[in-house]
Amino acid sequence: MTRQKILQVENLSIDYVVLDGIIKAVRNVSFTIDEGEVVCLVGESGSGKTTVGLAIAGALPENAVIREGKIIFRGRDFLSNRLKDKSTSEDRIMIIFQDPVATLNPLFRVGEIISDVIKHHLKITNPGEIREKALEFLKAVELPDPERVFNSYPHELSGGMLQRVVIAIALSINPRLLIADEPTTMLDVTLQAQILDLLINLKKKLGVSILFITHNLGVAAEIGDRIIVMYGGEIFEEARSEELLYNPLHPYTRGLLECIPKTHIKYSKLKSIPGMIFDLMNPPKGCTFVDRCTEAMEICRNVKPQLVEFLKDHRVACHLYRLEER
Ligand SMILES: Nc1ncnc2c1ncn2[C@@H]1O[C@H](COP(=O)(O)OP(=O)(O)O)[C@@H](O)[C@H]1O
Ligand SMILES: [Mg+2]
Repeated sequence: MTRQKILQVENLSIDYVVLDGIIKAVRNVSFTIDEGEVVCLVGESGSGKTTVGLAIAGALPENAVIREGKIIFRGRDFLSNRLKDKSTSEDRIMIIFQDPVATLNPLFRVGEIISDVIKHHLKITNPGEIREKALEFLKAVELPDPERVFNSYPHELSGGMLQRVVIAIALSINPRLLIADEPTTMLDVTLQAQILDLLINLKKKLGVSILFITHNLGVAAEIGDRIIVMYGGEIFEEARSEELLYNPLHPYTRGLLECIPKTHIKYSKLKSIPGMIFDLMNPPKGCTFVDRCTEAMEICRNVKPQLVEFLKDHRVACHLYRLEER
């Protein structure tokens, strides 16, 4: 069975213009998302994940420049229009962020916020009908007492409840693609697990495709059908989740795997890959991971490894894997 592709990102490159130069935040990124699929973008902080998400959602900040590439959503290339106006958003794509508090206007009750979105997007005008719809969405995200939540101000709700509210609002526009940018990062482990379960249920129930962004490969493994590993603005590896976990090819991916806490013991020290990310204003000409890589070879410093399909449905950009030596 071949599933329809809902999103195709092709050769996407995005710069940020800042006072002292140009940050090459995303370089030559290509991937696809199928209808009803959960794809995770994983990588350390600063690898360009949020920038990719914002570009797809049409929400890049003013100083971003899409230098090259295509974003094709449901068969339509909307980037060509976007080049003129970066803020044009595609109405069937919704993005949610890690901090629900920052997303919700504190001066309005939850009910008012969600009703407003429903009125606007679903073009419903009857107040009773709007209220009913709103409660339906609050119920869909498994909030225990939707009526009470409807009448509450954001500050009256816990972080976990607020993230559910944000997801309810996102769903109320009936999106085909939900982009979730570190939606569980600010929650404790138990709540994280609950929100992940919720997203998996919603995916099954509503068939919505999800681009899930996280720095945590363990979280990605739990929710993702497929995982894309990014480093310094580029894709280093991509495979189905089980394949990536059990057969990681890139030394960076292996490093990320070693950073997953084996237990949930609260005070166990989190590991990280030694070394720092390179200067994004002046990316090295060869492999950008070379200075941190335990397997670096001479060629890595001078020649950029191409992203190749080394195994079936398993892409990697690393000189350890050469097609001609398979
Ligand atoms: N508005 C901005 N202006 C300048 N640089 C930015 C801006 N947003 C992000 N960056 C830079 O772009 C790079 C990628 O950032 P980001 O996409 O947020 O990565 P991630 O989400 O993987 O942490 C980082 O070096 C970051 O500092
Ligand atoms: Mg980010």
